[in-house]
Amino acid sequence: MKISIIGAGYVGLVTGVGLASVGHEVFCVDVNEEKVKKINSGISPIYEKDLDKLLKKASSKKLISATSDLKSAVLNSDITFITVPTPSQNDGGIDLSFIKKISHQIGIALLQKNKYHLIVVKSTVVPETTQDIVIPLIEKYSKKNVGQFGVCMNPEFLREGGAVYDFMNPDRIVIGQLDKKSGDKLAEVYKNFKTDILRTSLNNAEMIKYTNNALLATLISFSNEIANICQQTPGTDAFEVLKGVHLDKRFNPILNNKRVNPNFLTYLWPGCGFGGSCFPKDVKALAAFAKKKNYNPLILSAVLDVNKKQPLQLSSLAEKNLGTLENKKIAVLGLAFKPNTDDTRESPAISLIKELISKKAKVSVYDPIVNSNNIKSPLSGLNFKFANSLDDAIKGKDACLLVTSWQEFKNITPELLKNGTKNPLLIDGRGFFDKKEFEGKTNYLPIGKNINKKNIQTS
Ligand SMILES: NC(=O)c1ccc[n+]([C@@H]2O[C@H](COP(=O)([O-])OP(=O)(O)OC[C@H]3O[C@@H](n4cnc5c(N)ncnc54)[C@H](O)[C@@H]3O)[C@@H](O)[C@H]2O)c1
Repeated sequence: MKISIIGAGYVGLVTGVGLASVGHEVFCVDVNEEKVKKINSGISPIYEKDLDKLLKKASSKKLISATSDLKSAVLNSDITFITVPTPSQNDGGIDLSFIKKISHQIGIALLQKNKYHLIVVKSTVVPETTQDIVIPLIEKYSKKNVGQFGVCMNPEFLREGGAVYDFMNPDRIVIGQLDKKSGDKLAEVYKNFKTDILRTSLNNAEMIKYTNNALLATLISFSNEIANICQQTPGTDAFEVLKGVHLDKRFNPILNNKRVNPNFLTYLWPGCGFGGSCFPKDVKALAAFAKKKNYNPLILSAVLDVNKKQPLQLSSLAEKNLGTLENKKIAVLGLAFKPNTDDTRESPAISLIKELISKKAKVSVYDPIVNSNNIKSPLSGLNFKFANSLDDAIKGKDACLLVTSWQEFKNITPELLKNGTKNPLLIDGRGFFDKKEFEGKTNYLPIGKNINKKNIQTS
């Protein structure tokens, strides 16, 4: 099938490369000429495992190309996926300006087309958007009635850092369909993907995505709240506490004498907060949507409040242990919102860095992938420096605060910490290190554990 994809970002490009890999002919459309050029030379503008490899392969078979000409891409294809951003507005509500613009442009393109065309909304949009915004705009500018063109809402569940794998091995495909004809056509696109397919209404498909993300975000904030209570309670350690909860057979069934260990338990785990382009904005958008419907979303608001404060637990732990942060040399380890991605959107590291700077700490940041040359949303005006290597980041610091669980940080050992001129406090914001290896040997403090200065060696 010939498929155009509008918006070649994380979702659009991965979708494009994924669909080209199963034999569809894909035209990626983006307003960013740099991205278009890169994609056409077989280079991925974003970092995702295997994306470059599959992009090169698909390009060499001429199954994927990029353009900034939306109209020709729509006219040359049978199906158009919309994968443009749906950011937060100042009030947390969803900004649908990109969606409106694209719906308008697709409508204008369809004015010149008499053959049936399917439009698939893949961007995350609040319920009623496809029905009340996308369809009317396309109808208006194409001068066609819906039904002459088909419409689906097909939320995307890929996780950045494993986006290609997730797209190629989906746990489900949700097809919100205007009518059977639209749903059948989209089902054909996915016919090579063996997974559960849920065919439902447009509004349900939109709501499924938000419900899914809001639930995962709730598990994280819930775990962080428990960690914050443990931190105030002598003799408790949130990681041990939650390990105990993970053994509940209702969460973690025993099959053939073995634990299933479902992946969702990784969300029931303390840390320094969730970030990225989805959880924060989607929970905010759902909360704002609920308020518009005259419902006060108490749980969603609490999830957001806990998350906003959570990265500051690390600076507050550092401050309590160092006395003051003024002129203290602090390394922030990790800038990406999670490992294996270069995405720093809403990363907990950003609010942490701002807090440390406001407390007059001397901040340096090290991330294995993100550096001053490739950071996508520069932390403009902030006074910190990038360290060139992990060694450089750690050496001579008063404290190292781990924010992102990059595998490279496993190279940190008590010996490495002691090798520097100082023996820095290591605050583990993710429960990343093996406590047994660090406790008693160095100044190690995981989040969610009661601060008892007796537990901490002084350098
Ligand atoms: N990133 C994720 O993990 C993820 C997962 C599931 C769903 N989503 C949703 O998918 C949507 C896209 O997210 P993303 O992370 O891929 O965003 P992104 O910012 O990485 O990519 C969006 C792309 O759209 C392009 N664009 C903007 N305006 C355009 C226009 N008028 N014409 C053509 N291209 C245009 C941008 O240049 C950019 O390349 C959002 O609604 C998001 O919530 C994202």
